[in-house]
Amino acid sequence: MQIKDSIALVTGANRGLGKAFVQALLAAGAAKVYAAARDPSTIEVLPNVVPLKLDVTRPEDIAAAVQNAPDLTLLINNAGISGLSGQAQDSISLDTLRHEFETNAVGPLATSLAFAPILAANGGGAIVNMHSALSWINLPNTVTYSASKAAAWSLTNGLRLRLAAQGTLVVGVHVAFVDTDMTRGLEGVQKAAPHEVVQRILDGVLNEQPEVLADGTSEQIKQNLSNGIYLQPITQG
Ligand SMILES: NC(=O)c1ccc[n+]([C@@H]2O[C@H](COP(=O)([O-])OP(=O)(O)OC[C@H]3O[C@@H](n4cnc5c(N)ncnc54)[C@H](OP(=O)(O)O)[C@@H]3O)[C@@H](O)[C@H]2O)c1
Repeated sequence: MQIKDSIALVTGANRGLGKAFVQALLAAGAAKVYAAARDPSTIEVLPNVVPLKLDVTRPEDIAAAVQNAPDLTLLINNAGISGLSGQAQDSISLDTLRHEFETNAVGPLATSLAFAPILAANGGGAIVNMHSALSWINLPNTVTYSASKAAAWSLTNGLRLRLAAQGTLVVGVHVAFVDTDMTRGLEGVQKAAPHEVVQRILDGVLNEQPEVLADGTSEQIKQNLSNGIYLQPITQG
């Protein structure tokens, strides 16, 4: 799918990878970018950027976004949370688990389903869903985050099948650590640059890839799934 002249919506567009998506979409010639955030006043004012209020866990926000973006052709489900820094290694918080599932798995699916008729009416378009290398493996302090991203991966694979008939490309993205607020507290790990990750993803959309492995670590982990890499004790770094 061409990025040039597309009309995109990015969730969690105010910082991190979401902000990098907005910049890269504009640079690639997108006609309009709906930059969605829980607080739209945090969106940088730029030409061709339309701020939208969207908390992906709030059905009323999703419904309003659908009303406000009837011309959408490219949905980027980027918003996500991680208890990575706040979760002690010796405890697993069920509240965190529920919150991560609502934000990382249910939210993107609900947003995708709500926009699917619009994408169909506008020629099919594409949906990009941000998963993680941690969809495939776990770390002692990412138990709930990894589970939510594994669920997101599976939901994307199901959504791809459901939306094939309407010609919507559904792209699942896996990437390891990226240098954003989400990984701020992590020392001694390699972190990819957000703009490089986003460029690989947009190249994947352009080439109609159903899956984008946006860094070398994700490629390595995927190659080793059949060797049972997820059974091995892995420590951070
Ligand atoms: N950074 C990494 O290492 C990494 C690796 C693999 C995958 N990912 C995934 O990539 C995506 C972007 O991550 P990031 O690194 O850019 O994280 P980030 O810097 O922490 O930014 C997260 C974004 O998600 C938004 N958000 C959180 N909950 C939301 C909700 N309920 N509704 C709408 N927006 C919400 C945040 O908005 P507020 O400003 O309102 O909080 C913020 O814009 C996430 O899905 C993440 O899981 C990140």
